[in-house]
Amino acid sequence: MKLGVNIDHIATLRNARGNIEPNLLEAALVCQNEGKADGITTHLREDRRHIIDADVYLLKEHLKIPLNLEMAVNDEMLKIALDLKPNSCCLVPERRKELTTEGGLNIVTKKEYIKDFIYELNKSNILVSLFIEPDLKQIEMAKEVNTQFIELHTGKFSNLFHQNDKSGLNKELSRLKEGAIYAQSIGLKVNAGHGLNYKNVYLMKTIPNLIELNIGHSIISKAIFVGLKNAVVEMKNLVK
Ligand code: PXP
Repeated sequence: MKLGVNIDHIATLRNARGNIEPNLLEAALVCQNEGKADGITTHLREDRRHIIDADVYLLKEHLKIPLNLEMAVNDEMLKIALDLKPNSCCLVPERRKELTTEGGLNIVTKKEYIKDFIYELNKSNILVSLFIEPDLKQIEMAKEVNTQFIELHTGKFSNLFHQNDKSGLNKELSRLKEGAIYAQSIGLKVNAGHGLNYKNVYLMKTIPNLIELNIGHSIISKAIFVGLKNAVVEMKNLVK
């Protein structure tokens, strides 16, 4: 599996003290050059609480590995993505007050808008991934709106792992496997992410044919103790 490193929380730390340090591009280049990350992910949130517009343009200009832009499905973000041209966009639900992305995108309620949205991105050679729960109806809809990838939301799995709820965890892992297999059977490529860490990530290997894991918070947290290069290398070793 490939590892996409989400560097949002480098920006969280930077923004805590007047946007001076740490330098986001420098961090991304360490992930790329020293950690051998396969990709860099950033979430440009509506409230710009961590990543800001200038960040994504700077990353796009300097990175050699793919830039994946996570964003909400709205006209403002579409305009930015079409101008920036990241390698891929991962479409996520967004609520202003949430701590992080809670729950997957509901394609059913916004189907036509999402379909047109994906069409516009694809026309500019931007691949699209939809961040969804491992729900068979949502997966079927993902195919109908012509996305190339889905990213299965592993937030529930990660919470159950943390709570040491073994039966709940097994159930959720089965749901993720079933979702991945169904998605692949109808021609979708499958990634996964959210809440993955150094302890729980090995279970992702039990889900067949996942292409990429997008991991942020645990890597940046680990970097405080071992440095960013080592944190990325260690995760790469667990994921490959
Ligand atoms: N994938 C998506 C779609 C996300 O929204 C996030 C959080 O920004 C992640 C992966 C990474 O989650 P975490 O920071 O918990 O590893």
